[in-house]
Amino acid sequence: MLNNLQLNSEGKLKHFLSIEGLNKSLLTEILDIAESFVGIGDHQIKKVPLLRGKTIVNLFFENSTRTRTTFELAAKRLSADVLSISISTSSTSKGESLLDTIRNLEAMFVDMFVVRHAISGAAHFIAQQTAPHISVINAGDGQHAHPTQAMLDMFTIRQIKKDFSNLRVAIIGDILHSRVARSQIQALNILGAAEIRVIAPKTLLPAHVESLGVNVSHNLNAGLKDIDVVIMLRLQKERMSSALLPSESEYFKCFGLTEEKLKIAKPDAIVMHPGPINRGVEIHSKVADGPQSVILKQVSNGIAIRMAIMAMAMQKQGAM
Ligand code: CP
Repeated sequence: MLNNLQLNSEGKLKHFLSIEGLNKSLLTEILDIAESFVGIGDHQIKKVPLLRGKTIVNLFFENSTRTRTTFELAAKRLSADVLSISISTSSTSKGESLLDTIRNLEAMFVDMFVVRHAISGAAHFIAQQTAPHISVINAGDGQHAHPTQAMLDMFTIRQIKKDFSNLRVAIIGDILHSRVARSQIQALNILGAAEIRVIAPKTLLPAHVESLGVNVSHNLNAGLKDIDVVIMLRLQKERMSSALLPSESEYFKCFGLTEEKLKIAKPDAIVMHPGPINRGVEIHSKVADGPQSVILKQVSNGIAIRMAIMAMAMQKQGAM
């Protein structure tokens, strides 16, 4: 159902709402197209004309630094006209419904919505409601999915490690509330990672987490053994309805990544984090800023991956 909504009748990307239901060849195509966009940032004129004449609206109902900015830069580098609407200053704050906001923007001849919303399923709902020529890209919905983040993470992993088939990847921290973790697990499984290990206290893991195709550890020292890629997650306190941890300092003692703990992973392991990072809570500054960290590389890669996804979603309209 979700898959059908995301793809057109020729199997091409129309909306990008979730990794779920997509196949390895489509994910690999996204990574390959992103690869072709990486160098554009170094050009004197950082633009290609692929989406000239198209209008893209960034609709962010939740705060964002990285996702919103890289989507905006990506759209501009594709030569699209881009508007970023701040919901706190829009008529939503005067009681206008989500659907009425969308209908009014549609009336301005928009070609694509990039949507971040605190409610799971919001981007999917908008995709169902919009006119057939409009594409919707999910920039993070509640605890459900953050598919472009997962793809930029896969891109960064492939750039450094080349191949997924021998990789052991650990995702550490607040898996329960993380849309990023859900999308990463789906992408890593589709791309054929050798092992996905989630490491967290029991209170920060969803029920039946093994059914997602992961191994589980509650001990950071044991869990880091033989790991090639270490993905840290922040505690998502805005989504916690009750106290799930004794204290942040206790959490850091047990699950915070320090230089000493990182030595348990493989010597060439990379450290990733989708951001925003909370130094001294889930990660020590010496690791976040250290030689194994690729956190800022992830941010840079966000532009190329978002260019690829936007260009592919517009391809159905003959833009590529
Ligand atoms: N990784 C991520 O989604 O960051 P922002 O919330 O700053 O967009």
